[in-house]
Amino acid sequence: MHILAIETSCDETAAAVVVDGCQVLSNVIASQADLHALTGGVVPEVASREHVRQLPWIYKKALTEANLDWEQIDAVAATETPGLIGSLLVGIQTARTLAEVHNKPYIAVNHIYGHIFSNWLERKPDQDIKFPLLSLTVSGGHTNLYLITSPREIKLLGSTKDDAAGEAFDKVAKLMDLPYPGGPEISKLAVNGDPMRFKLPVAQLDQPYDFSFSGLKTAVLYLLQDLKVQNDGTLPEKLKADLAASFEHTVAKTLAGVCRKAIAEFNPKQVHLAGGVAANSKLRKVLEEAVSTSGNIDLLWPAKMTYCTDNAAMIASAAYFN
Ligand code: KG4
Ligand code: ZN
Repeated sequence: MHILAIETSCDETAAAVVVDGCQVLSNVIASQADLHALTGGVVPEVASREHVRQLPWIYKKALTEANLDWEQIDAVAATETPGLIGSLLVGIQTARTLAEVHNKPYIAVNHIYGHIFSNWLERKPDQDIKFPLLSLTVSGGHTNLYLITSPREIKLLGSTKDDAAGEAFDKVAKLMDLPYPGGPEISKLAVNGDPMRFKLPVAQLDQPYDFSFSGLKTAVLYLLQDLKVQNDGTLPEKLKADLAASFEHTVAKTLAGVCRKAIAEFNPKQVHLAGGVAANSKLRKVLEEAVSTSGNIDLLWPAKMTYCTDNAAMIASAAYFN
């Protein structure tokens, strides 16, 4: 089954063609990151207008790169929720119109389920995906932990009570005067920093599988203010790197701690990491340690970096499996 999918929930205009939920024939993405860097974050109105400009050629390119015409497309899918409503509407209406005009079924997809199924892309489901599995989906808008017993049995175990993990990266980056999106910037700075230099708080919540990052963000804010006072109003590069590394380490430790508890209770065969923050190498390393000490469990993250951040191939995959 060939599915053409469209993704416009935030600041990436994307279209892709995927066969049977796994084989990616094309995956076209126009990022608006440079545009939103000018304002230090996504301006919804600007994002919607940019989707209107980009989507007509993006979906045609996805078809051309897949070397297919409309007769060979079996269904059209689009991200329907969650996301910025103006941005979503551009993708939904385009996909519905294409489905109507070409007489194909239309499939509405939940964006977070898209991130979950990014781990199916370029994999052989029978061999590579093993149930039950835990999926930790960490993006700019969401931090969710799921227990998945089959592609259609997905249970939410817990989620963030305030900021998402990616949002925390973006907000801390802003406090440190780093450009948007902040995750990759913090990650780059952290390479030369000492992750043990500053002890930052790990939230303890009543529900074992929930997350919270707003306290951590506030702790960074106060620490930054103190450090600036101690250094004549500026922040030396070494301290900046140490702060970035300590923050990144604390986020990774927080996420890994919750996963460890879920592994002990649900005994999964695999743990999947997905979403924009899954691109973070420190998080991958810390999770790898947590998973390896918990027994014979595989840790999977998307087969390509481009499948971590927003893309339409994952939307086509979720459409197929659901
Ligand atoms: O999944 P995604 O593209 O969009 C949402 O659905 O939100 O995730 C974007 C988020 C941003 O917050 C960005 O800062 C973060 O993912 N991100 C990273 C890295 N790359 C992207 N965070 C930490 N380390 C990275 N290497
Ligand atoms: Zn996303």
